[in-house]
Amino acid sequence: MKKPIILTGDRPTGKLHLGHYVGSLKNRVDLQNKNKYDMFVFLADQQALTDHAKESEIIRDSIGNVALDYLSVGIDPSKSTIFIQSQIPELAELTMYYMNLVSLARLERNPTVKTEIAQKGFGESLPAGFLVYPISQAADITAFKANFVPVGNDQKPMIEQTREIVRSFNHTYKCDILVEPEGIYPENEAAGRLPGLDGNAKMSKSLGNGIFLSDDADTVRKKVMSMYTDPNHIRVEDPGQIEGNMVFHYLDIFGHKEDQAKIADMKEHYQRGGLGDVKTKRYLFEILERELAPIRERRLEYAKDMGEVFHMLEKGSEAARAVASQTLSEVKEAMGINYF
Ligand code: TRP
Repeated sequence: MKKPIILTGDRPTGKLHLGHYVGSLKNRVDLQNKNKYDMFVFLADQQALTDHAKESEIIRDSIGNVALDYLSVGIDPSKSTIFIQSQIPELAELTMYYMNLVSLARLERNPTVKTEIAQKGFGESLPAGFLVYPISQAADITAFKANFVPVGNDQKPMIEQTREIVRSFNHTYKCDILVEPEGIYPENEAAGRLPGLDGNAKMSKSLGNGIFLSDDADTVRKKVMSMYTDPNHIRVEDPGQIEGNMVFHYLDIFGHKEDQAKIADMKEHYQRGGLGDVKTKRYLFEILERELAPIRERRLEYAKDMGEVFHMLEKGSEAARAVASQTLSEVKEAMGINYF
């Protein structure tokens, strides 16, 4: 029997951080290891170019890094197809056809795109490619006839837009070739949105408030020691606040079941007074390292042979291309542009 298909990916514009890890990478690895799905994971380098056209070296540099991030968290090329978007020209071709099914007004209303446009302050110089990236994302998803797309909460509008394109295509060309995908979001809304070390709502590379999966243990320790806690908790004996205290927020997210009792005790002690930040931070460092140390070890192992990592990406891209090419020919046939 055919397994349901999963497709997911990231823009390679740097290294992946803990926010990516709890927001989507963990989820993907769990899904992969259920052996119930046919999974495709890809590096959306073309999408990254929509706002980095003049600094394409950033993308080139990060391809290897993000591939290592994937491998080190446990995305396994013997179970999943890992590939690079730009190596599948069929995706660009599908994008071209879908563009005629989406109005400019609809793109301008896409909440994620709207927010990003404001954040990036494009103004009059908004690249056309940036505005239409949700369409290329629909091409990514539909080329593989993905049933499920595990992504962060910020991607909900992309899935919605893809579903509209699928319905419009199938309706316009009187077929049922394209598949309406469903998003799979992090179970825990809070965990899906990891705040930065500084307490900012979002961990992000540009804000410099993150822990990268590739950080060494010393760097992680320093970053944990710099975390935002309770600015009024000055002396150890002072009562401290849990709300907005990033150390406790992270403990809630990264603590396992068996850690819950200890975390509850620490919270109580902290609020009462007598528990210092250095102690809570040391404990958080241990909890994080339990997760990060094995990831780091696997990364170092894979990084010894980058030739092999790129070879894996090449093989994955070939396999992915065969699938996309089949969908494209069905699409062209439905549209009646298969002339010869
Ligand atoms: N937009 C996603 C991001 O910002 C990346 C992406 C591109 C993607 N195409 C996709 C994710 C298709 C899932 C499915 O990270």
